[in-house]
Amino acid sequence: MEDKKIIFSGVQPSGILTIGNYLGALINWAKFQDENNCIFCVVDQHAITIKQVPAELRRRTYETLAIYIACGIDPEKCTLFVQSHVPAHAELAWILNCSTMFGELSRMTQFKDKSKRHHDNINAGLFTYPVLMAADILLYQTDLVPVGQDQQQHIELARDVAARFNQSYSETFKIPVGFIPKTGARVMSLQDPLKKMSKSDENVNGFVSLLDDKDTIMRKFRRAVTDSDTCVRRGEGKDGINNLMSIYSCFTGKTDEETEKEFDGRGYGEFKEAVGIACAEGLAPIQEKFKELMNDKAYLEGVMRKGAEEANRMARKTLSKVYRKVGFVGL
Ligand code: TRP
Repeated sequence: MEDKKIIFSGVQPSGILTIGNYLGALINWAKFQDENNCIFCVVDQHAITIKQVPAELRRRTYETLAIYIACGIDPEKCTLFVQSHVPAHAELAWILNCSTMFGELSRMTQFKDKSKRHHDNINAGLFTYPVLMAADILLYQTDLVPVGQDQQQHIELARDVAARFNQSYSETFKIPVGFIPKTGARVMSLQDPLKKMSKSDENVNGFVSLLDDKDTIMRKFRRAVTDSDTCVRRGEGKDGINNLMSIYSCFTGKTDEETEKEFDGRGYGEFKEAVGIACAEGLAPIQEKFKELMNDKAYLEGVMRKGAEEANRMARKTLSKVYRKVGFVGL
């Protein structure tokens, strides 16, 4: 029998996802689900390391789940759940905290960045964020973790902590491998094409949300930063155009050569218009499905419940093994 890989990934419910998340992550996740054992998690416990408005966090948790499903993640094929519904995550995180060194957490660049951005709230949770993330991954004996480049350092930490625990207490965790997809992995900001597109960018023109309406999408692409050249062609220093060409290719399936030919002799203005249309058309069915799902809370709660049950079952197995190994008394 073919060995199915266990794939785990998570997204914070900290805002509506962007086309960067969609093209870089969700599209690939949907491709994995037929041949692997996929587990996707809405990480609400990670989200509160930054100040949240409780009602908004609750709404975004539903929205994030709905977005996953609208983007083609099938709750019948995958385990889709909310982190706080599975207590083993927080429980394992405590234990892993005791196998993680202060020094290694101090080196995490995301911690340093977020401490700068939220200097009035540098809480212990922000510091130990990567340990909770390690717990997320290790609980499921995960093989592969599809993530963006920015999470690579956290995956490395999860591997180090897992290896250290295995060394101290005997073989317990599978050592996970980060999987950074090549195609469309990095959609850049429309306003600063040297920066990754981010849903938390203060400049809303930098990103296209999956729920932006057509007018907003068109406006954002019209305003996209390009360069002083006029030719639609990839090139060094043409980061804006390179980015738009990638987005166009993802939505239309056209190769760069086809795009260059299509826009030969036409300016950036026309190209941006075409990228906007392709994007709006690509997102339309997702938006429709999303609306439908958000009007059916009972369905979403059913998905959460089923996901939590499945995840709990798997997570408990690992956690009880861990409890035994560290010397906790079992009753
Ligand atoms: N830290 C990840 C991010 O911000 C989200 C995350 C939490 C995650 N737990 C995870 C991703 C486990 C992969 C696996 O993008």
